Amino acid sequence: MTNSVFRVSSMYFVVVLSVSCSASVYGILRFASYYGDHMVLQKSPERAVLWGYGPEDAHVFLLLIGPTNQKASPVNVTKGIWRVTIDPVEAGGPYTVIVATENSTATLTDVLFGDVWLCGGQSNMYFNMSQIFNASEELAIAAKFPHVRTFMAGLIESKTELTDLTKVELPWAVPTEGLSGQESVAPFSAVCWLFGRYMYKYLNYPIGLVESCWGGTPVEVWSSSRALKHCGLEEPEDGPKGNSMLWNAMIHPLLNMTIKGAIWYQGEANTYYHTDEYNCSFPAMIDDWRMAFHQGSGGQTAPDFPFGFVQLSTDRKGSADDGFPDIRWHQTADIGYVPNGRMKRTFMAVALDLPDETSPYSTIHPRDKQDVAYRLTLGARAVAYYEKHVPFLGPFPQQILSAATYVNITYDQNVSVTPSKVIFEICCSGTQDPCGPTSKWVQAPIVQWGPTTVQLSAQLCPVTDVVAALRYAWRDWPCDFKACPIYSASGILPAPPFLINHYPGEDNIWIN
Ligand SMILES: *[C@@H]1O[C@H](CO)[C@@H](O)[C@H](O)[C@H]1NC(C)=O
Ligand SMILES: *[C@@H]1O[C@H](CO)[C@@H](O)[C@H](O)[C@H]1NC(C)=O
Ligand SMILES: *[C@@H]1O[C@H](CO)[C@@H](O)[C@H](O)[C@H]1NC(C)=O
Ligand SMILES: *[C@@H]1O[C@H](CO)[C@@H](O)[C@H](O)[C@H]1NC(C)=O
Ligand SMILES: *[C@@H]1O[C@H](CO)[C@@H](O)[C@H](O)[C@H]1NC(C)=O
Ligand SMILES: *[C@@H]1O[C@H](CO)[C@@H](O)[C@H](O)[C@H]1NC(C)=O
Ligand SMILES: *[C@@H]1O[C@H](CO)[C@@H](O)[C@H](O)[C@H]1NC(C)=O
Ligand SMILES: *[C@@H]1O[C@H](CO)[C@@H](O)[C@H](O)[C@H]1NC(C)=O
Repeated sequence: MTNSVFRVSSMYFVVVLSVSCSASVYGILRFASYYGDHMVLQKSPERAVLWGYGPEDAHVFLLLIGPTNQKASPVNVTKGIWRVTIDPVEAGGPYTVIVATENSTATLTDVLFGDVWLCGGQSNMYFNMSQIFNASEELAIAAKFPHVRTFMAGLIESKTELTDLTKVELPWAVPTEGLSGQESVAPFSAVCWLFGRYMYKYLNYPIGLVESCWGGTPVEVWSSSRALKHCGLEEPEDGPKGNSMLWNAMIHPLLNMTIKGAIWYQGEANTYYHTDEYNCSFPAMIDDWRMAFHQGSGGQTAPDFPFGFVQLSTDRKGSADDGFPDIRWHQTADIGYVPNGRMKRTFMAVALDLPDETSPYSTIHPRDKQDVAYRLTLGARAVAYYEKHVPFLGPFPQQILSAATYVNITYDQNVSVTPSKVIFEICCSGTQDPCGPTSKWVQAPIVQWGPTTVQLSAQLCPVTDVVAALRYAWRDWPCDFKACPIYSASGILPAPPFLINHYPGEDNIWIN
């Protein structure tokens, strides 16, 4: 323990004294499953919530001992549960947290205060550090980040909302030197860990990472019945991973913990399941999580906490339309970029330019998670931490102009253009028809370009037709690794895919 122990009130010594003479009595005073030694609790201005179990009606005292000390007002155990919301604590540590009743105590040691991020989704979030490119180098430096701490929820399903996690896969751990570091980081989510490590370099204070994800899962299993009902998806589903099953077992128990934000990598399982509804189900899940975490933490977790996600990468090269383009679009609520009016305080890492044709874990699991995590951190800096002037959005059309033989796109920023890849397409329709089942999509090659503009040829449309829609990168696997045609001027941020309709009779300038 640190020197600070000697600075605390005499109350502390009373507590310690009583432990020694009643060690085996009332073993039931304890913390909930996800509190543990080495954990990170949410720093100020939010207040961390701690809760656990104790003998009915006992008074529970909580002490925080470390760089600053705190004695919380006693609370009573009700229905077997106590709960304390501590005063805000600045980033740092280490702290010892002690809870005590008249005759027993429970202690957490080496606790840090920092930002707590929840990491959810399916297999690409579950994808661990030992599976990525450069895994051995990445693991070797993990120990340099002892203030980035990890915790992983166990894989459990439930038909009812659970109060606590019934299984912990990896308790809170420090990525220290040697084997132990490898033990805690190697099996941990690569996107989550790398995000935390990059954010630590930026923020310079502790980061707590809570991984709660499961491979092969559609968004419906992570959604409460409230969120599903909002989208007309509440009818019961058969099978083990039915509606709300993982919301119940792996998210609901975490609601009472104060968190800074969440990141998410999911959607592959919805490319063939409730695909058309994803533009409702995904934004609705985000709204519902925000409301529920805010309520569960007694107002500590922000009601609009930042939510970052990875737009789907790639699976099948040569596949024309297999649900990937639709889910990518629906991930943005059909706007094309986030944040937007429907999805406030969200940020997105575009990943369609990071395919991995030789992934030993199948192509749906690309091994470059470094770029994915890095792009997430750009969004987090801008959206979650309000950093000004940090570029985090790839180029998006600000104006589209169609003439008889060409289409001009003006982007919202300077672009870096490589015309070799043909992935713009135009929808050719009869002059009175919107783009529909009888229309034809044809390639629209890049003819020329300027700092913010790209001109496409519309010559492949029959002369009797008009251009009724324009789409970009609208296929599962649109380009080779980091070789899409349109990036930000810096070359770092790929343009996200889009599909924009132009109704017949409208002006030839399409304003977004
Ligand atoms: C421990 O405290 C409880 C009340 O919280 C009391 O009922 C019980 O008798 C105490 N046991 C001992 C051994 O002091
Ligand atoms: C706890 O219970 C005691 C009676 O045992 C009561 O006087 C006190 O007000 C209760 N405290 C809270 C915070 O409910
Ligand atoms: C990482 O995931 C792979 C595939 O699921 C698994 O075989 C491996 O054991 C995991 N690595 C660690 C260190 O847990
Ligand atoms: C969601 O997508 C479907 C299918 O593309 C579409 O019919 C529907 O209008 C969209 N709904 C919203 C709210 O954007
Ligand atoms: C957690 O929060 C929920 C929602 O506010 C509440 O119903 C539940 O009682 C809380 N659980 C604990 C252990 O405080
Ligand atoms: C792996 O390491 C090499 C050599 O340092 C580097 O060029 C490459 O970009 C790294 N790959 C990833 C995905 O970070
Ligand atoms: C379309 O773009 C080309 C190339 O930049 C430009 O010469 C032309 O004037 C543009 N058309 C219109 C109507 O602005
Ligand atoms: C965009 O490009 C133009 C022309 O190359 C340049 O003058 C301008 O400074 C660039 N703008 C930004 C924001 O980089």
